[in-house]
Order: sequence, then C-alpha cells, then structure tokens
Amino acid sequence: MNVLVIGNGGREHAILLALKKSKRVEKLYCMKGNAGTAQIAQNVDVDFMDAEAVKAFALANPQIDYYVVTPDDPLAAGIVDALEGIGKRCFGPTKAAARIESSKAFAKALMQKYGIPTAKSATFDNYGDALEYVRSQGAPIVLKADGLALGKGVLICKTMKEAEEGLKEIMLDMAFGRAGEKIVVEECMRGLKYDPGEEVSVLAFTDGKTIVPMITSCDHKRAFDGDKGLNTGGMGTFAPCPFWTEELAEEVMQKIMLPTVAAMNAEGAPFKGCLYFGLMRTPDGMKVVEYNSRFGDPETQVVLPMLKTDLLDIFEAVTDGRLADMDIEWESGACVCVVLASGGYPVSYNKGDEITIGDVGDCTVVHAGTAVKGGKLVTNGGRVLNVVAKGRDIGEARAKAYAAVKNISWKGMQYRTDIGIKYREG
Ligand code: AMP
Ligand code: GLY
Repeated sequence: MNVLVIGNGGREHAILLALKKSKRVEKLYCMKGNAGTAQIAQNVDVDFMDAEAVKAFALANPQIDYYVVTPDDPLAAGIVDALEGIGKRCFGPTKAAARIESSKAFAKALMQKYGIPTAKSATFDNYGDALEYVRSQGAPIVLKADGLALGKGVLICKTMKEAEEGLKEIMLDMAFGRAGEKIVVEECMRGLKYDPGEEVSVLAFTDGKTIVPMITSCDHKRAFDGDKGLNTGGMGTFAPCPFWTEELAEEVMQKIMLPTVAAMNAEGAPFKGCLYFGLMRTPDGMKVVEYNSRFGDPETQVVLPMLKTDLLDIFEAVTDGRLADMDIEWESGACVCVVLASGGYPVSYNKGDEITIGDVGDCTVVHAGTAVKGGKLVTNGGRVLNVVAKGRDIGEARAKAYAAVKNISWKGMQYRTDIGIKYREG
C-alpha cells in the first residue's frame, strides 16, 4: 500500500517511521513534511489546509491508497470529510468529531452532559458575564480560549489580578484571535501528590465502538527546567507514566474512555481515529484536563517506538470498524524524547541556522522544524529535533538521550535538562 501522512512535525516523522516498519507499506508520502520525512517518504508540497487542493492532489494521485490526517487544524477544517467525500480511505476523525478538541466549550458541555469527570466550568461569549463569574469564583482560576490556539490559549491565573488581565487579553484584546470569542472559565484542579497537579497523556485508538489505550506518557509543557517559563507545544516526553496502575487504567476506561466514545455516538459525531485524553490524578480521582482529536506531539515520539503491532494494520482496523479483532502489543521498558528547540522558542526565534548531528548511538533523531537549504540541514521552526531513546527503564533511556544531545548543535539550540525525572514514585 502507498500511504500519505498529512503534517510537518516530529509527530508525523514518528508516524512515518512506524509505518515504514509495516510489511504492507510500499511507498510513503508526506504533505508537506520536513527534512527528516524526506529521508523515508516523498514530500508533497500542497497546502493541507486547502481542502480543494488536497482533493485535487488525491484525484491526480490514485496510486495513494490511504491517508493519515494528524494535525488539529486540518482535522478541524474537515480534510478527512473532504477526502472521504471522494472515496479515499483515511485515518482521523471527521470535522464534527474533531470538535472534541477544536471547541473547548463543546468538550466541556459533552463532559457535563454525560457525567465524565472534569474540572467544574462555565462558558461565556460576553466579557461582562465572564468577569462577574471570575470574580464570584476567586483565584486560582483557569481561563481557556474556546478555539485552537497552538496550545497557548490556556491561562492558569494564580491571583485575581492575573485573572482579570487574562480575561481582557483573551476576550477584549483578542490575543488568540477568534479562538477567544468564547471562553471557558474553569476551576483550577489540584493533584493528588504534586503541585502543579500530576498529568498523564493517554492516546487511544478507537473505531467508534471499541477503544484501545496505548501505553501512557507524560509531557513537559513549560519551556524551561523545573517547569519554568511559558507553555509550549511540549519540550519532552517519557513513557510509560510512573504513577499509572492497573486500577487507574480500569477507572479511566470505565469512567472516561467508554463514556466518551458513547457520548460522541449519542451526539451523532462518532469518533474514529486517535483520541487523546489529557488527564490529571486528583484527590477525587482521574479527571479530564483536555481532549485532543489526534496523536500528541511529542507523545507520539515515545509511544509508537514501543508498539510491536503493525501500525498500518491498526489504522485500517480503525477505518473498517474492526478494532475489536485486533491484538495490539507493546514492548516493555521505557522511552524518552528530548525536544531540541530554537533559542527564544516559544516566543520568537531564528530560522536557517545550520545543524550538526554527530554520533547519537542507537537513539533516533526525529525531525520537526528542519529543512535542507543549499545541501545543508538547517533549522526551520521552534521545535527542531526530537532525540528519542529506548531503555530498560526511564533512567537508562534518559541517559542515552542526553548523551546523544551532547553531539547535536546549532547556534542558539535550547532544551530542557530535566526530561523524565518527574513523578518518580516511592
Ligand atoms: P490544555 O491546553 O487544556 O491542556 O491546558 C494546558 C495545561 O494547563 C494543562 O496541561 C494543565 O497543565 C493546565 N491546566 C489546564 N486546565 C487546568 C485546570 N482546570 N486545572 C489545573 N491545571 C490545568
Ligand atoms: N503534547 C501535547 C499535545 O500534543 O497537545
């Protein structure tokens, strides 16, 4: 089979690397891709936000049998609907199902209606009402722009001053554009053992009937060591989550995963694809922080290397509604991903700096924001490379990843040195 993956980042490179292991994959394509995806796939220069352009490409390339749509924006824009509309087979949710991520107000209303545990919240499209509610609740409080905002539309406000400023920023100054026309005001959740509360990402395959969680992982969202600095798309991940237990898995399956799949069906928007559960362990049990309608980035980089089963077999089982028949197997051990970013990320950063990569041992260098210019590998984004290492445990994987990081450089390269050391239990 010939398979095309839509997206440009480390997540897409990681998906292509996993698909490359499939016995049934003949040729891989990536729309638009980066310098890393170009090594294993044919990059296709088509704007994946333009449904007409994507359809025209698909019609002109009947040799491509299967499409994997991964980033939030094209999913929210209905690229899966567009491709399915011309008879193409896809992995990824429809526009209606992708609302579970593209509208936080939709997601909160869904959880409220179907009794899925999450932080108490209220939604507003009027600044005055929102301000009144924020004042009645007091700080700390969480403000979330309703729409997609590159992972930056969430403000954790410790004081009432921060909350009032944040509300103004989102709703009046429109700091996140139209994503802030509506706002979700949420109770600030506490963790069971940690502050800020302990979080785990659980990605799951679902065909709308069956849901199968992948191994768990943990992200590091802040830019700098010790969770300092701004929220980013993710500065590093590790798998599996140290505080995960069989009991938590069962609680999450019964109280969160199965009810979410049923809720989406009841709303007439069955979800097929990868459903991402961002969860917090709280004194009142596991709660949903957010849903994503797609694979996480950089969670995918630590989850897929542990997958033993053929990824294309799983994707097709999801498309065909046969997931219940699949036996999905995972390696034991652990995986760590350290994100190497451009200096100044996530605010402003240089592009076009030459990258040198030396000996990385048996680590995998996954590309995110990279390009080839004048025959040289150069930076082309905020998050540039992901160094991925496997080990018997997180400590071993972490040591391998950081040993490899020492042999990679460019002007202004920045990374966190504490990936993988949080939530060590016992
Ligand atoms: P989100 O984009 O919704 O995942 O939010 C980004 C980050 O903000 C999450 O990963 C959490 O660390 C934090 N966060 C979001 N909502 C809450 C909440 N209600 N209570 C505490 N922390 C939260
Ligand atoms: N790493 C968080 C996300 O993919 O949204």
